Amino acid sequence: MNQQDINDLHTLMEFEVNRTSPPAGFPVLPDIPAGRYTDPRFYELEQENIWRKSWLFAAHIDELPEPGCFILWENAGQPVLIVHTTSGEIKAFYNTCSHRGAPVMTEKSGQRSSLTCNYHGWSYNYDGELMSVRDPEDFNGLDLSTRGLKPVRCERFGNLIWVNFSLEAPPLLDWLGPIADEWQEFQFDSCRLIGRHIFDLNCNWKVAMEANTEVYHVRSIHAKTVALTLDDRRNVNTFYPNGHGRMVAPSRKDAAAARTIAPPPGLKEIETVGPIGRECTQSYGVFPNWVSPLSNYFIPPLQFWPNGINKCRFEVWTMAADWGDGPKPELVNMWTNQDGSELGAVLLEDTQFGEAIQKSMESDAFTGVPLSYQEARIYHWNQAADRMIGIDNIPEELRVAQVMGEEWIYPNEPRLSQAEVSAG
Ligand code: FES
Ligand SMILES: [Fe+2]
Repeated sequence: MNQQDINDLHTLMEFEVNRTSPPAGFPVLPDIPAGRYTDPRFYELEQENIWRKSWLFAAHIDELPEPGCFILWENAGQPVLIVHTTSGEIKAFYNTCSHRGAPVMTEKSGQRSSLTCNYHGWSYNYDGELMSVRDPEDFNGLDLSTRGLKPVRCERFGNLIWVNFSLEAPPLLDWLGPIADEWQEFQFDSCRLIGRHIFDLNCNWKVAMEANTEVYHVRSIHAKTVALTLDDRRNVNTFYPNGHGRMVAPSRKDAAAARTIAPPPGLKEIETVGPIGRECTQSYGVFPNWVSPLSNYFIPPLQFWPNGINKCRFEVWTMAADWGDGPKPELVNMWTNQDGSELGAVLLEDTQFGEAIQKSMESDAFTGVPLSYQEARIYHWNQAADRMIGIDNIPEELRVAQVMGEEWIYPNEPRLSQAEVSAG
């Protein structure tokens, strides 16, 4: 982040703490219809569109470090096989044999010289080409060249592997837009994987995610944890194209030294991280389901995967600077207890109401969610979701109005001129 951006963020922090109403011109946010969390029609629209057209973070290169390594990945519903090819590329395919549809690989991960289906022995190379079938003389005119594994788009951002089921989606870097530049200082291309754990929650995936998309909740549910150090009234939200967002909140002045996350022994610093990443909570939402605070010690994304309309899976990752030849740090995952069996204290606070909120949303009592300016990243996400689904494809009662115009989307920043006026 360059010095001008840093200065602007500090200006905006003071603007935020001093304002007595939402910024001039900020739209009134209509209620988010409760049906978006409970109506099977909306769930289906998400399945067909959001999960089929978005770039989804799926794996870290440490999980398939050498040629011949593969992992299975089904978090987005469809069976995917991610492989490390002999030429060193990472590729992804549907884990679906072209013969009778058996899974080509059945183990969750491994290393092989070829991909051989266990049902009748059809064998593919790591580029997905069908190389041989058993008893070929019994097939009439079977053209092996047209029976390879069906590819899934797969691109890397540094050591992170992303997939996309759509052939029409833009390249990953275009999708990330300005975020890709801002992430350079965190050195994604040398980060190592410390831990990856997944937990079942009894609520719609967006209920869980939205608890991590605003700081309005901090002073109540994190009263004894995050609130002791995070200056939520100085939080600055930024709205990026494609529904992505960022929050930057400084540490409270009286607690600046007490960062919530102390680096465990053995962890190296990501030295290129600038002052915002060191002194503030700098957290990114990448549409549709990535939330991650980034710092000089950690790249720790949280991900939220639907598992039915009222259930989701919460995946928590910890990545850190390369520890070189030394032993892997003892930490299992910064979001869990030390054996990885339970979420850590802050995430237990964040997830505690999910099941009850889901019940409320399904009850006759609840019709919609009125969001404050502080919670506007949630609204921005929902607007982007509707555009991706196609607004006309959504039943009218389930849509959100597109009230946040381009003027609020990065690089536009109308609050800066307002801040200068109020500072005189
Ligand atoms: S289903 Fe794979 S070889 Fe028959
Ligand atoms: Fe929280």
